[in-house]
Amino acid sequence: MPDAIIDENVFFLKIMADHAKFIGHLLDPSERKLVEQAREFSQEFDTLMFQAIDLSSMRPQSQTHPLLSQFVDENRVSVKSLRDFKKTARDLIEQCRIKSIIHPLLADHVFREAERFLFILDMFDRSLSGMKVNKKEILF
Ligand SMILES: [Fe+2]
Repeated sequence: MPDAIIDENVFFLKIMADHAKFIGHLLDPSERKLVEQAREFSQEFDTLMFQAIDLSSMRPQSQTHPLLSQFVDENRVSVKSLRDFKKTARDLIEQCRIKSIIHPLLADHVFREAERFLFILDMFDRSLSGMKVNKKEILF
């Protein structure tokens, strides 16, 4: 399971970082505040992705690493705020209240992908807290 947690985080954090980048690029430059927020998310998720790759390179030590649970917690906080940003962008695009060339369906898709990642992180969080109680009972 710790392997799956690390791999899944590398995979999804890269996608989240890519989303932040293309949202920033496809917004009209006059939407300065949103462009700036997208740029910050891009940097934040690049950092998180590199941290996930660091954890990945520490295997097998990382499997029992207490950092893993903290890492999942930190990711949840960041993904929640990116998810909220994507939701705001999606709603604004749908209501034609911002200038961008992002298709409304794409805006909705990237929002839902953040929701999916959050769902997976919650599952990992539950699994890691379960492991602290009794490793043998986890059947992943
Ligand atoms: Fe996608």
